[in-house]
Parts: sequence; structure tokens; C-alpha cells
Amino acid sequence: MDKYDSFHADWESSEGPPNFDMEEHIRDTWSWFRDVLKSPKFVVAPMVDASELPWRVLSRRYSAELCYTPMFHAANYIKDATYRRENFPDTGDLEQGSPEFDRPLFVQFCANDINAFSTAAKMVEDRCDAVDLNLGCPQMIAKRGHYGAHMMEDWSNIRKMIEEARKVAKVRITAKIRKFEDESITLRYAKMLENAGVSLLTIHGRTRDQRGPNTGLADWQIIKKVKEALRVPVVANGNIQCLQNAIDCMEQTGVDGIMTAEGNLYNPALFFWNFTSSLPALSCIRGHVFKILHHVFQQEEYRDMRDMLAQANDFDEIGRVAEEAKRRLENLDENNEYTSPQIMDDLLMLPYWRCKPYVRPKPSETTENNSRKRNSGMIEENLKRKKHKEQKKAKYQEKMAKEVDSLRPKYEMCIKCPGNPRGLKCTFLFCKACCRKRLSMMIQIASVTEYTAKHHEKLI
Ligand SMILES: Cc1cc2nc3c(=O)[nH]c(=O)nc-3n(C[C@H](O)[C@H](O)[C@H](O)COP(=O)(O)O)c2cc1C
Ligand SMILES: [Zn+2]
Repeated sequence: MDKYDSFHADWESSEGPPNFDMEEHIRDTWSWFRDVLKSPKFVVAPMVDASELPWRVLSRRYSAELCYTPMFHAANYIKDATYRRENFPDTGDLEQGSPEFDRPLFVQFCANDINAFSTAAKMVEDRCDAVDLNLGCPQMIAKRGHYGAHMMEDWSNIRKMIEEARKVAKVRITAKIRKFEDESITLRYAKMLENAGVSLLTIHGRTRDQRGPNTGLADWQIIKKVKEALRVPVVANGNIQCLQNAIDCMEQTGVDGIMTAEGNLYNPALFFWNFTSSLPALSCIRGHVFKILHHVFQQEEYRDMRDMLAQANDFDEIGRVAEEAKRRLENLDENNEYTSPQIMDDLLMLPYWRCKPYVRPKPSETTENNSRKRNSGMIEENLKRKKHKEQKKAKYQEKMAKEVDSLRPKYEMCIKCPGNPRGLKCTFLFCKACCRKRLSMMIQIASVTEYTAKHHEKLI
């Protein structure tokens, strides 16, 4: 007797050959992974109450290459319009899944019903790159609802759900699993999912019981074995808290990508290389601080800070101005009211310590009337002088306009080093140099991964 005795028959019945041409599926899957998803290595996990649209946009800005929505309940999604509107709207506001700023995106559902899962997948098929089945949620609520990791023993039901969704929806189906304690069961499980037709498998290297205080370290060894056993792309999850962890995990497991949840929440720039190593010019930073603190600097009592900033000679000195500003301004707002009004009049009413626009004063009214003189000779003289003055003024204005124009950026700037214009093709909004740097890092990681994979081939 083992604790899985009641499942063995079900498992065996679920392990049949695929109901599709596997060779073709593998070929298509890899070209989708490469050409549509662009071989994402850095993946932001599905996170309830966290991997919402704004967070995904922010994470992508800092090098995340594939994001998941939070988990949605398929059964609620298909029957409840309010639930859809609140989570992943299917009408009206279609920002989520927008090809312009929310791709690549996987929509994750939990479900235990064949019809609910395939119907939900069909409903989002146009607004994502894949629909992911959550088989990893270990929480009590998932136990009560019998979904997530609490259905990881129900292989034949899982298989039918995936097969039906593939048949009904024209979108790729993926799954996110946890490991079993037993290695061979984990490998059979992963293989069964591949035969069911998933296009990508994410494996979290922890068991269902490893949660809360028992979370412990994730097992990368089993992830490596799953990667070796499968032919579809495999993503590793667990214990990735910094860029070095990500690189180590790819090296040690040979996976195609790594996914982080908590690491990303504490540092959405986790995948970003060290920012301070490529700071923009001091004058740029100073310029930003001057603008942000403009209204503060108009107050006499902050003159000292203004001078400090003007004289700052390095990054640390500018940092001290920012700290000083924080110290002196932090407690001014008794209401702790930090939302920014939408309309100009309200914005301008804000006190000086809040960020608000700068409105240029109007040029002073014409002074012609004041200069009227009774003496006609004087008038002539004055007219001449005035004309001369106006010519001079026009010339000066022209010169200034040119100068201002030359200072104004002609292109959108790189978000990494705001001194350079953005490259036209870089999806990370980087300039050519930064984009190239990022690419070379990716190639390095890719070649390390390839190397370990090859090295491993030699060993076996
Ligand atoms: C706030 C939070 C919400 C989560 N929500 C989901 C979810 O909706 N679906 C899911 O599959 N996993 C969810 N997870 C689990 C993560 O996706 C991930 O598998 C787990 O946290 C392990 O990765 P980590 O070590 O990088 O945190 C969540 C985790 C956190 C911290
Ligand atoms: Zn740049």
C-alpha cells in the first residue's frame, strides 16, 4: 500500500499517446516560443492581487519578457460579467492583453471542470498568447474548491481539460505545476501533460505541502530532470531572488526560462543589470531634481537646498539634496493625500511641496500707452528708438528660440540612459547602445545554457 494506491489506475489510464501529431506540435511550439514569444527567459509569475496590468507594464520595463495574469476562476469567469469586468474585461476597456503594451501574456485560470476551462480559454483566446492551467495553488481555499495543487492527482480529468481546451479554443494551453515528493511520479506527471498537449510547462520545485512556514528551498534537481524529459519549453520556478539566482538556475537546470514571484514583488527590476553602473550625466540628474523641486525652491526657506543642488559635484551630493528634501517636506502633508488631481486647476491649487506643473507667466501687457509723449519731436525720437529696440528683441528671441530648440529632445529618450534617443525597434524602450548591451547579456546567458545542455549530452 502506498498513499497513491487509489490513483494508480487513473494515472495509467491517463498516460496514453497524444491525440495529435507530436512531431508537428513540437516544431510549431518551438517556432511559437521563438518567433511569437521571442524566447523569453525572464518570466513574472501569476500572482493574485499582484501581477495586475500596471505591475506587468512596470516589470516589462525592467526586462521581464513574459508575464502571467493573476489566477482567475474559470467557472466564475464564464458566467459572471462583473467578475470579467473586474478581472480581465472582455468588452469596453481592452487594455489587458493589448498587443501594444501587455504582451506576451499568459492568462491563468484555475478550474476542475472540462467545460468551464475550455469555455474560459475560448473567451480570452484573442487577448493573450496562452491560457495557463493552475495546478500549483496549495492554499486551503484551493483545497475546498478542489483546484490548483489539490487536484494534482486527478490526471485523467486534467488531461481531458487540456485536450478539450485545445480543441475548443484557438489559443495555446500551458500548465504550472508543483513537484510530487516522488521523482518518478513527477516525471510521469510532466510527460502526461506534454502528451495532453501543453505548449509550455512551468514547474515550481516544491511540493504541495511546502508552503507558509514549511516553504523551504525549491528543488532545482527535479526541474533539471523535467527539462530533460520533455520536448516542449520548460520554465523553472522557486528560489529566484536576484539576477545571479536566475543565471545559476538556468545553468544548473538547462531550462528555457525562469519565473519569479516574490523576488519580482520586492524588486521588479530583479532582471535588470546594475543601474548605478550606467548613470546618465550629472547634469541630467540635476535637471530632473530641479524640475521636481521647482515649486519648493520658489520658497525662500529652501534657498539653501537650491544652492546645494546647484553646486553638487557628484551623484552622492545630489542624493543628499534629495534626502534633505525628504526630511524637510515629508511631514508637511498632514492629510497624507497623495493622489494627483486630473484637471489643471486642481493641480495648480496643490501646495508647493506636491509635484505639479509649471506654468510660464504671460508676457507683460503692452506698455505703448504709458510711453505716449506730448512733444512731437520726442515722439519721432521715441519711435526710432522703439523700432531699434524691437529689432534687437526679435533678433534675441530668434537666437534664444534656436538655442531652446537645440536643447529640446527631438526623439523619445532611452529609459535607461536618458541621454540617448530610443531605438525604433527596441521593445524595452532602450537606445541602440543599451539595447545592444542587453542583447549581449542575453546571448551570454543563452550560450551558458546551451553549453551546459551540450555538456550534459556528452555526459549521458
Ligand atoms: C502574492 C502571490 C500571489 C500568487 N498567486 C499565484 C497565482 O495566482 N497563481 C499561481 O499559479 N501561483 C501564484 N503564486 C505562486 C507563485 O506563482 C510562485 O509559484 C511561488 O511564489 C514560488 O515562486 P517564488 O519562489 O519566486 O516566490 C503566488 C505567489 C505570491 C507570492
Ligand atoms: Zn540608453
